[in-house]
This record gives sequence, C-alpha cells and structure tokens, in this order.
Amino acid sequence: MTELTQNPAVGSAASDDSKAGHPMWSSRLAFILAASGSAVGLGNIWKFPYITGENGGGAFVLVYLLCIALIGIPIMVAEVAIGRRGGCSPINSMRKLASRDGLSKRWVWLGGMGMIASFLILSFYSVIGGWALAYVGNSAGGLFVGASSESIGAMFGGLLSDPYTLLMWHSLFMVLVIMIVARGVSSGMEKAINILMPLLFALILVMVGYAMSTDSFGAGFSFLFSPDFSKLTTEGVLTALGHAFFTLSLGMGVMMAYGSYLPKNVSIVKTAFTVSVVDTVVALLAGLAIFPLVFSNGMEPGAGPGLIFQTLPIAFGQMPGGVLFGTLFFVLLVVAAVTSAISLLEPVVEWFEEQKGINRLNGALIGGLSIWALGILTILSLNEWSGFHPLGMFERFEGKTIFDLLDYVTANLMMPLGGLFIALFMGWFMSKQAAENELSIGNGAAFKLFMFILRFVTPAAVLVVFVYNLM
Ligand code: PHE
Repeated sequence: MTELTQNPAVGSAASDDSKAGHPMWSSRLAFILAASGSAVGLGNIWKFPYITGENGGGAFVLVYLLCIALIGIPIMVAEVAIGRRGGCSPINSMRKLASRDGLSKRWVWLGGMGMIASFLILSFYSVIGGWALAYVGNSAGGLFVGASSESIGAMFGGLLSDPYTLLMWHSLFMVLVIMIVARGVSSGMEKAINILMPLLFALILVMVGYAMSTDSFGAGFSFLFSPDFSKLTTEGVLTALGHAFFTLSLGMGVMMAYGSYLPKNVSIVKTAFTVSVVDTVVALLAGLAIFPLVFSNGMEPGAGPGLIFQTLPIAFGQMPGGVLFGTLFFVLLVVAAVTSAISLLEPVVEWFEEQKGINRLNGALIGGLSIWALGILTILSLNEWSGFHPLGMFERFEGKTIFDLLDYVTANLMMPLGGLFIALFMGWFMSKQAAENELSIGNGAAFKLFMFILRFVTPAAVLVVFVYNLM
C-alpha cells in the first residue's frame, strides 16, 4: 500500500493537488497484496467455518465455490475495471463514468449504498476483531493450556456475557483502525503485511497439520467436501452467495477504490483471479483446521459465531509450543482483521475529504467514532439484548438479534445488490470499447465469454437466489 500514501487525498490532509498526479500501485504484486489484505480477514477464518457448520457442510461449500467462480470473480473484474476507468473514490468514479456515457445520475447511489454498507459492516466487524484481541491475551496468559472443551466454552461464554469487557476490546480495535487510517496507510504497514500475511498462511498450515494428527481429520474433510444436498436450505444458498461477496470485499466500492490506483498495463482478469484464489484457499484451509477439532471434541458444527474461539484454543492447549502458536495465531488474526477494517473505513474518510472538505484526521475520527458507537448495538445483542428481535414479526427475521440483522442486511442483501448493479453497469451500460480496453484480453472468444457471463450469467444467478428467497 506504499503508493497510496503518495496520494495527497489518501496520505494527508492537503488534497488540493490530489487530482494532479493520481498515484499508482508500483506493481501488480502491490495491488494483489492490498486487495488480498482487504479480502482475507475475519470472513475467511471466523465467518466461513461457522456458517459452513450452520448450513450442514459440503453442499453449502459447493454452492459457495460456485458463487465465487461464477459471480465473485466476474464482479471483482468489473468492479476493479470500473474503478480504474473512473480513477476516483467510488461515488465520484460512478458520477464521472455515468456522465461520460450520458447515463442516469442515479448510478452515484451505487457508491452511496456501498458506503453505508461499509459503515454497518465495520460496526460489528470491530466487535469480532475485539474478540480476537481478547484471545491474544488469553493465549499469552496460558489460559488454554490443558483446558477442556467445556472450560474453553465457558471462557468464550464469559466474554460474550460481559458488555464492558467487549466494549473495551471493541474500542481498542477501533482505535487501532482509526489511527492507521488517520495517518494514511503507511509504507510501514505494507512492509508489515508483506511478512505477516504469509506468516498467517503458514500458521494456518500448522493448524491443518495438527488437525491431521487427530483421529477426526477424515470426518472434518468429508464434512467440508462431501455434499449432502438434503441439508441445504434456500436461505443457506443466499448465505453462500452473500458470503462470496463478503469474503471478496465486493459490491460496495472497496475494490473500485483500489482499482483506481491500478496501472493501465496490469491485467485485471489475472489479478482478480489470483486474489480470489488466495482468499478461497485461506477459507478452505481454515475449515480443514477447525472441523476435525469440532468432531474430535464431540462439539456441534453449528455452534455459531463462537466456533473458532471454542475449537482452536483446545488445540493450542494440547500441542507443543501451543502458547506461542496460539498467541501468534490470534495476533495474526487481528492483523488480518485490521487490514480488512482499514479498507472499510477508508472510503468513508475519502468521501468526507472530497465532499465535505473535512481533513483526514477529523474524517477518521468522525467516521470511526460513529461506527464505534453503532458497534455498541452489536455488543448488547450478545448479552443484555440477546432476546431482543426487532424484526421478529417477519418469519424470515425470527430470532435475529440486531447483530444478526446487521450481518444479514449487509452481506445477504446490500452487497449482492451492489454487485448486481456493478455487473449490469459494465455488462450493459459501459461502452463495449471501454470494457475491451480495461480487460485487454482482445475481443475474441475469451472476451465474448466474459461479457456473456457478466451480462447474463452473473445477474441471473444473483436474481434467482434473491427470488427463491422471497418465495
Ligand atoms: N473481506 C473481508 C473479510 O473477509 C471483509 C470485508 C468486507 C472487507 C467488505 C471489506 C469490505 O473479512
């Protein structure tokens, strides 16, 4: 992310000459790292395993993989392409491209909706990031050593039931994010990520190695990879679709913003493909590390959002070097979460700067503090208000707390909707010449196939999932 700091609009408060020299990523690799930093996060390691567990395993995973391939990758290509062509923040890129091609001004709403989604997502994302922070301390303090699955479960239950502790960790997480965004995403950060991301990957491999040594690796493996379609509900299909968007950071302008820094000679198709593959591999490995532990300890795969916090500590408590590995793992989980969280706050701050003339520090503070305050609703959903189901009168939202609703509305509705319009914009509204220029794969069979997928397959798939869920 080094190059981002050269952009006055991103790196400092002085934004008068930000239009003059729009900075570029130094290389394809820099972009891949930044985009994977946004994509790989709590979604892969925390959310993917628990929603897979709740939705019965293999069949859900298969649908998720299909969604990544048929919907996620094409939309990532489209989103990055629109961003590169627009060259500004999402709202202004949409404004520029729409006016250039004489389209409705309403396309600006695509950027606007994305910003609202960022705001809502970060409010609960930070609370979960706080759990990870708390677990750094738990692991370093040796609390996992030799602990039974019951006592690990009780530890997690204790954390959730205490709003003040949750608030403290949520605040610390938000302070970290605000500080980084306020200073501009620094070159130091990029260097750190270059080392920490591969390290996270290596540690997940260690965990998979440990899972292989248990007697339930086979059970975990087949839970993930042998589909049993009788376990898949229509809501499960929507969750898989929503998660494909969530995990790839799609449909809300984050990839558009990153794309605006991408040099013209870099292949968008190849890069989007690489980022998606990295992201998917991390999620699948996390699943392979966790489900064998679930089965070997006689736990429920559908245990919910606490799944990784109730399984991995058991392993850390038993393996040699577990205190070190465990502490390192949760530190890296925090880093992965922070790099995603930055990409959620950045568009909000950028917009403050562009529209309201509010400087970066104040923008980060105003945006960050409002998001922090909103996060209190998620905290209370976990304890005091766990019985409060604001939309309980609708069958679909029965039993959903405010936290559940925030997650549902952003991942399952706003992001797929945003993605649908991104696909439609590039497939139907942007000029064919522009699309050809951005994709730079010529205008032969590959281009035609891609445009066909973007125009028909992707929108139809999103619509079909939506319609089925409404029925
Ligand atoms: N992709 C991130 C994750 O998997 C979450 C995220 C969503 C980040 C949307 C940015 C935008 O954790």
